[in-house]
Amino acid sequence: MKLHYNFYLSLALIFSLSLNVFAEDLKLQIESGKKIYRENCIACHGDKGDGRGPAAVAIPGTKPRNFIEGKYKYGETSKEIFKTLTEGVPGTAMPPWASLSEKDRWAVIAYIKSLKK
Ligand code: HEC
Repeated sequence: MKLHYNFYLSLALIFSLSLNVFAEDLKLQIESGKKIYRENCIACHGDKGDGRGPAAVAIPGTKPRNFIEGKYKYGETSKEIFKTLTEGVPGTAMPPWASLSEKDRWAVIAYIKSLKK
């Protein structure tokens, strides 16, 4: 009996420790994504991610996405955003970002998702 108790106790401990590791990983990923965002996306999508960057006023037609509120047009799962980011949106000012490493693309996606209200 005692053995079982210890076994479940260790499972619970390992489980909560790995949750902490995941939370820490996500925090680091979001921090790195923020840096990539500030270097590449801020001019159009804005400092706060509201789609009102300094370049946005000069963009004719389709305006940059507001990441804080409203719906994404091309899907909101990380996988769908990855596709949009990699291919860009032809016919709009949104360029393809295949030039960023995959790791950087996932990081910037984690960051823009963290902006959503
Ligand atoms: C030169 C301006 C410009 C830059 C720089 C830019 N974007 Fe965009 N982005 C746009 C525009 C305009 C749209 C709107 C396209 C549409 O609605 O069809 C857009 C749309 C998007 C979407 C689509 C969201 C949806 O509705 O599905 C994502 C995701 C996105 N941008 C992410 C980024 C990220 C991340 C960066 C930086 C790595 C970035 N963009 C840099 C102009 C820009």
